[in-house]
Amino acid sequence: MSKVTIIGAGFVGATAGQYIAMKNLADVVLIDINEGAAMGKALDLLQTGPITSHCSHLSGASGYEATANSDVVVITAGIPRKEGMSRDELLKINAGIVSSAAAQAVKFSPNAIFIVVTNPLDVMTQLTQQVTGLPSHRVIGMAGVLDSGRFQTFIAAELGISPVDVKAMVLGGHGDLMVPLLRHSSVNGIPALELIAEARLQELAVRTRDGGAEIVSYLKSGSAYYAPGASVAQMVETILQDQKRLLPCSVLATGQYGLNNVYVGLPVVLGRNGVERIVELPLESSELAALQKSAAAIAKNVATMNDLIGWGKAEVIEAKTAETAVVVLAAAPPAAVAESKEPVTK
Ligand code: LAC
Repeated sequence: MSKVTIIGAGFVGATAGQYIAMKNLADVVLIDINEGAAMGKALDLLQTGPITSHCSHLSGASGYEATANSDVVVITAGIPRKEGMSRDELLKINAGIVSSAAAQAVKFSPNAIFIVVTNPLDVMTQLTQQVTGLPSHRVIGMAGVLDSGRFQTFIAAELGISPVDVKAMVLGGHGDLMVPLLRHSSVNGIPALELIAEARLQELAVRTRDGGAEIVSYLKSGSAYYAPGASVAQMVETILQDQKRLLPCSVLATGQYGLNNVYVGLPVVLGRNGVERIVELPLESSELAALQKSAAAIAKNVATMNDLIGWGKAEVIEAKTAETAVVVLAAAPPAAVAESKEPVTK
């Protein structure tokens, strides 16, 4: 069996492990600074095997030795924003947690594909690529699958039909500036705009953008984990089975859509090599402008993060036209930063 390490045995990490095991995709190692939580949840999930008919092995640990030779490493470790905490503080704390996790994991699994889930997601994915030094096609952020899943769910509910027949794509960063593509949404091939008035579809797009916050408002403490966990499992399945599905993922733009050197949600073909290629859709100028605005916001956060963690100032050149690139010029990371903190539960 393939091997998947999940760093952070909180709700998102454990739920991802559950979906991966139930689909028989791989053996799973849960890593958490709280070793008991990792071991307890892994053992509990292992005992579902005879009941739900899967044979994935699950184990938990706090040390990275157990993760050796993983095919995929999923990083969910980090903290959510607490009351009174600034975004910069969150950025700095999670940067410490994620860089430590990434640096340790890559030592034991130099050939793995990394999937990053910790928020702010696109920024943490870029950090993971910087820390591991892995080729960017092997460091991917999970967000587009989740955000598209939410949009598809709302479209299906609006029409009273099965969500299985709804296709939709959400690009851009995993945040307030995400870009649900209305024109590219469809129901079994029929454009959603022929079935739902544009103003109403736009409302569903806004609900999608606020989808994470809506769940937080119900839960009061904590955020979504079933759909995030299922989204991770879908990406793991696509990678391990080399399915070459076309999914929106946070990937390093290298000139596509007028963007450069910034992680942002784009449509990609996902396979055993990770990002097999980035697909360039013909976008209308308003869609392209929205995508570039979203990418520029991420680039600014990457620049802020690199400054906060002592990697030096970075320059962000903002996109003005399709031909102008958003560029983050990050200084080389000093090795010391990578060892700063142990991972904690998301
Ligand atoms: C969400 C958080 C987990 O979108 O980012 O639910």
